[in-house]
Amino acid sequence: MKRTHHCAQLAKSDLNATVSLSGWVDSVRDHGGIIFIDLRDRAGVIQVKFDSALREQAAQLKNESVVEITGKVVARPGEMINKTLLTGEIEVDATNLVVHNIAETPPFPLTDADGDKVSEDLRLRYRYLDLRRPKMRKHLAVRHRATKSVRDYFDSLGFYEVETPALFKSTPEGARECLVPSRIHAGQFYALSQSPQQFKQILMVAGVEKYFQIARCFRNEDLRADRQMEFTQIDVEVSFIDREGIYSLFEGMLKRVWKDVLNHDLPTPFPRLAYKDAMNRYGVDKPDTRFGLEIADFSETFRNSGLKMFQSTVEAGGSIKAFNAKDLADVTQSEISVLEEVAKSLGGKGLAYIKAEKGGWRSPIVKFFTDAEKAELTQKLDIEESDIVFFSAAPWERACTILGRIRIEVAQLFVKRGKLTLRADQWNFLWVVDFPLMNYDEECGGYVATHHPFTSPVPEDVSLLDTDPKSVRGQHYDVVLNGMELGGGSIRIHQSALQEKVFKDVLKIPAEVVENRFGYMLKAFKYGAPPHGGIAFGLDRMCALLCGTVSIRDVIAFPKTQKSQDLMVQSPASVTEKQLRELHIKIAEEVKWSCCSIKNLLGEKFFYFRCRDKENQTINQVTVFRSAGYLIYFCIFDKF
Ligand code: AMO
Repeated sequence: MKRTHHCAQLAKSDLNATVSLSGWVDSVRDHGGIIFIDLRDRAGVIQVKFDSALREQAAQLKNESVVEITGKVVARPGEMINKTLLTGEIEVDATNLVVHNIAETPPFPLTDADGDKVSEDLRLRYRYLDLRRPKMRKHLAVRHRATKSVRDYFDSLGFYEVETPALFKSTPEGARECLVPSRIHAGQFYALSQSPQQFKQILMVAGVEKYFQIARCFRNEDLRADRQMEFTQIDVEVSFIDREGIYSLFEGMLKRVWKDVLNHDLPTPFPRLAYKDAMNRYGVDKPDTRFGLEIADFSETFRNSGLKMFQSTVEAGGSIKAFNAKDLADVTQSEISVLEEVAKSLGGKGLAYIKAEKGGWRSPIVKFFTDAEKAELTQKLDIEESDIVFFSAAPWERACTILGRIRIEVAQLFVKRGKLTLRADQWNFLWVVDFPLMNYDEECGGYVATHHPFTSPVPEDVSLLDTDPKSVRGQHYDVVLNGMELGGGSIRIHQSALQEKVFKDVLKIPAEVVENRFGYMLKAFKYGAPPHGGIAFGLDRMCALLCGTVSIRDVIAFPKTQKSQDLMVQSPASVTEKQLRELHIKIAEEVKWSCCSIKNLLGEKFFYFRCRDKENQTINQVTVFRSAGYLIYFCIFDKF
């Protein structure tokens, strides 16, 4: 029997045709001696009827068994037509049945609705079953189509797809790395590539001019809904291009993908927002602009405030920010407590707010406000009865960040009350631009690159690198969609001298580290490096948005859990002593010390300290006992 059709391909036009189908038994029903199965393959489902000699054989089938059938396409009797099914007007009258495998009962039902109710851990342990669910099959199909669309787009523009090494070397900046020990070079390590950044720049020096890659990247970070250790980037680099060129290239890519996958026409160009404005208005550099709740600045208003906390914050150079949550004065005390905790977790002392209720403003801080201050608040924030206004007073960045998070939490309160709908298919793309090149990191007491150290400063600001690095603007840009950073990139430094200056004079990376880590790049730039720039897009994040799901785990065939484990293959796992020896690795014993005391036969108390390994076996023991008033100790180094 050779498959002639996929189940969902069959239609009324195939009536009376003899067909062969292959797939999984979706369900079995015994209707008074006639057995019906829904046969499922990758494309869909069709009903198959067994009312001949095959009946007994078909009755043995269990859900998820794998079969091949041959039969004739017939019309369903009127009362059996199923309008909800694509193939609901026909069925296949089976004349032959081959059973490849009788399946055991799956640990959870494989419908979308039931599968969504079981724990994600169970789904991941049986991922091969989870992926049989229609929704998950659709996610894989969307990912395939999106990836193909990207490849076609860049191919049509003359880009080369070039693979770069996954086994790279450790670089000090960026996320935590996954290290791979070398077998041949004892004590030395590769690092899995966090992104092809340096190789793609070298490809520009090599004259490739237009590069792209669907690149696997590795970052040893804590995982979240939008983060995996192993993820995929649409990675691009172009020579002789400026920021405008990158914007239109990527707007074109997204337009093409949205058309190919969703048949949706994305309007372009996307709006642009300077980093400072994004922070000031939304309190974050990746704003969700599907809702307002915009933040306003009141630092000048409260410069001489009677409220000491506001006045001293402004005096110290900080900011007073506020936004109006319209018609939310009915917020409950427990909801306020959650908001206060959020503010505290971001370094705020609490969360000041005023409620406009019963014709007045209610809040312990209102008594400190002058009429002029109140008038300015009312005018700028359009405060009306039933509104609640949230404040934050802190150094500028923190004041923005706190209210940015409160703004998102408040939006969820509106959603909960049915006053706001956040549609996943409202595509509010925007470019966030004009980031500072450097940030001053209090903890390490120096400057760190906002994006990465290869980003070029805006040419007019280069001279400020020596005098005022924090006010240098970088040629960096991010693509943001509905509160998620989808991609980021920059125009790069392409002159060896400027790159060396950024490494050594601004970032203060010691000369020998620069030489060791980036020497080859600095050298390459001396052999004719073109001006170039690029960007990388999170393919997983893009597919999650295309599928309308929040977690990128839903669009990755075999993702890791939040605890960085693959539950199906049970990874990570331990390895043999021999493997470790070959890699020159010795695992440090994980030991626990405990203090015990016992009495000897004379009733004297003495102590001993025990050191145990992770299987709770005693490794060695130190015994301490008293003798004639002195403390004497014994060390027993035996491995027990
Ligand atoms: P960046 O570090 O901003 O830039 O990464 C680019 C995009 O990759 C995605 N991304 C992730 N997706 C899933 N899990 C992760 N752990 C993860 N980390 C990042 C995001 C992000 O916007 N080399 C530069 C790009 C360049 O300058 O060209 C880079 O990697 O969607």
